[in-house]
Amino acid sequence: MKLLVIGSGGREHAIAKKFTESSLVETVYCAKGNIGMEKDGIQLVNIAENDHQALIHFAKSEEITWTFIGPEIALFEGLADAFEQAGLKVFGPSKKAADLECSKQFSKDLMKKYAIPTAAYEIFEDHDAALAYVEEQGVPIVIKADGLAAGKGVVVAMTLTEATNALSEMLVDGKYAAGKPKVVIEEYLEGEEFSLFALVNGSKYYYTGVAQDHKRAYDGDKGPNTGGMGAYSPVPQVSESLIQEVLETVIKPTVNAMVAEGRPFKGVIYAGLIMTKKGLRVIEFNARFGDPETQVILNQLDSDLAQIIDDILNEKDPDIKLHTDRYTLGVVVAAEGYPGKMVTDIPLPQLNVEGSGCTIYNAGMKKKKGSFVSDGGRILFVAAQGSTLQEAQDKAYLYLTDNPIAQTFYRFDIGEKAIQFTK
Ligand code: AMP
Ligand code: GLY
Repeated sequence: MKLLVIGSGGREHAIAKKFTESSLVETVYCAKGNIGMEKDGIQLVNIAENDHQALIHFAKSEEITWTFIGPEIALFEGLADAFEQAGLKVFGPSKKAADLECSKQFSKDLMKKYAIPTAAYEIFEDHDAALAYVEEQGVPIVIKADGLAAGKGVVVAMTLTEATNALSEMLVDGKYAAGKPKVVIEEYLEGEEFSLFALVNGSKYYYTGVAQDHKRAYDGDKGPNTGGMGAYSPVPQVSESLIQEVLETVIKPTVNAMVAEGRPFKGVIYAGLIMTKKGLRVIEFNARFGDPETQVILNQLDSDLAQIIDDILNEKDPDIKLHTDRYTLGVVVAAEGYPGKMVTDIPLPQLNVEGSGCTIYNAGMKKKKGSFVSDGGRILFVAAQGSTLQEAQDKAYLYLTDNPIAQTFYRFDIGEKAIQFTK
């Protein structure tokens, strides 16, 4: 098989690398990918994610067996629809199905209609009505801009001032809005957060693991929200029975609801969940794999990912085995200043992982005047596996200590809460 992966981050590096490990696969292309992928035998294709016609032309001329779409923006822009209309096989939801992630209103209304457990909410376009509702409900309260905001359009307001500021930013200034601004105002939930991943085709769904991300920039969950600073899998706080509960009460009714709504889902469903004192709740759905969760989830997969996707695309039940005797934990190395104004073009050393038990997934990296330099906020991800989370964490941090990179930073406490939990 010849496969094409769309995207350019650490997530796509992990997906494409896993495909290269399959005996069924001859060549793995990635558009656009990043220069760090080349060391793993992934072929870079210099076509932008939003150039649908050029991607279709490439897939046809190279006789690509099927294409895997990584990032939500490509789904939102209808890349999966364009491929299908061109008669090409693709793993990734249609634009209408991707609304599960891309429209907070659609996903909240779907959960309400089909009794899928989520935070109580109201939707507002009118600023004064929204403000009156917030004043009546009180704080803490959560305000989310409708639409794709790359994880940044969510304000967990602990004070009325924070809530008021968020409402004027989102509804008056139209921050994050493509069209008419709209917000979802939600009940504040407290508890253990985790993410569960399932591969889906219509009403069929296949569990692929749980992970926990660390969204804040600094240790102790302090600082601004980021795309994710580190992750581990599996999550010891999440029991086997809780996983079964998520599959039965969240994933199953959701995939069936999408079919019933005429928006059958094909691709990855990533459920952001929280276990509260009142029970399990969905925080959000994403219509793709997470970054950096994928880099740990796929390391825990003890089956051939190319075979799995090929089976699903051919309506066969795949054989998905997860390692049960090990953990994977990984740490994001980011440019100083991320997620705000950050240092650019940081010189990057050639990293050697031999003998360290670590794997590196590259994200923001490019070649400039013959040398490797940073290209964006999240630069690379160091993943390590161990028979315990502690062992995995030790290996990742030993590697990072031995291989410092100037002008970058990382969190020192990835997985720490889970390790304390297991003690
Ligand atoms: P989202 O983009 O919807 O995943 O939200 C980003 C982050 O905001 C989540 O990972 C949570 O930590 C937090 N969050 C979102 N919704 C709620 C909620 N209803 N209650 C408490 N925290 C929330
Ligand atoms: N790590 C969070 C995300 O991929 O949305």
